[in-house]
Amino acid sequence: MFYLCTPIFIPNIVEHQNIYILAIESSCDDTSAAVLCNGKVLSNVVATQKIHEEYGGVVPELASRAHQQNIVPVVHQALAKANIDKKLVSAIAFTRGPGLMGSLLVGTSFAKSLAMGLKVPLIEVNHMQAHILAHFIADEGTAKPKFPFLALTISGGHTQIVLVRDYFDMEILGETLDDAVGEAFDKSAKLLGLPYPGGPFLDKYAQLGNPDAFQFPEPKVDGLNFSFSGLKTSILYFIQKQSKNNPDFIKENINDICASIQGCIIKILLHKLETGVAQTGIKEIAIGGGVSANSGIRAALKQMEVTHGWRTYIPKFEYCTDNGAMIGIVGHLKYLDGDFSKTTIGVKARYGF
Ligand code: KG4
Ligand code: ZN
Repeated sequence: MFYLCTPIFIPNIVEHQNIYILAIESSCDDTSAAVLCNGKVLSNVVATQKIHEEYGGVVPELASRAHQQNIVPVVHQALAKANIDKKLVSAIAFTRGPGLMGSLLVGTSFAKSLAMGLKVPLIEVNHMQAHILAHFIADEGTAKPKFPFLALTISGGHTQIVLVRDYFDMEILGETLDDAVGEAFDKSAKLLGLPYPGGPFLDKYAQLGNPDAFQFPEPKVDGLNFSFSGLKTSILYFIQKQSKNNPDFIKENINDICASIQGCIIKILLHKLETGVAQTGIKEIAIGGGVSANSGIRAALKQMEVTHGWRTYIPKFEYCTDNGAMIGIVGHLKYLDGDFSKTTIGVKARYGF
């Protein structure tokens, strides 16, 4: 191992029997660290920041302060759970973007310092690529998508249909023109008085309701792009109108309202995927991102295997919402490619493929 005049550490890969990646994720409001050995997860620690609940959304300044407090204990815990000494770490992977600038800076600065202290390479990771490549975490029993496949990435900040030709050969075919699908869940939940983040709560009530109880319009958007801001507005008007006639409308119909909103979102996503399949001829479909934890979306996608002959890939719950393990698998793949980063690298709040 040696140090070049450009501040980048190049490992002697043959030295390593095992590749241990320590991965750090801090793009939004979860501080996470994971340790992977040869692509297999040894630990995946996530500290979710509760502070944002009382504000009904992520407050960027509070998020970066909480990352500052969490990052050392989270990394310590990840190493302890993996039961490895930090001297064994082959490389440090970190989220470079996209995300909140202040949040990204905490994880990035920590990763750089640790890489320099341990004299190991640094590997930058695109968070949205990581949501897709989480499918390649070497956990036993999970089938891996075959290239080329279509990835539907649905999170609190993004909604994209991506053509994935290879690990690092990705093309965005369509994306949201306004709100992300996670925002559609969270904003709808807020209108119903549910806590933040509302997606999981809306999902829970939806499981008890009738998705055909109320109708919401499906937006007309060309191609593979999405729009969710109109849906949010129509839900707002619907709730206002119904609550005027019956102040207890939400309380009395919470299950059906949630099921109908979720049903409408699922229809939008599946119709776009059908268009994507028709355009590309690819029936290999993987989903990723926090919203892929949604029980209705998971069930609807599995049903498409039966009705449309798709082969679908759904990540384990713990790899859907933001987590260090997904950053770690990208780190592992880049390590094998010898794709390392300089320690002068900066963060990217917006980061395409
Ligand atoms: O990927 P993620 O953890 O963070 C971002 O990169 O944005 O996604 C967070 C989003 C939030 O909007 C949250 O409400 C949503 O994922 N989410 C869900 C569910 N679990 C998390 N939305 C619907 N149903 C769920 N079960
Ligand atoms: Zn995410």
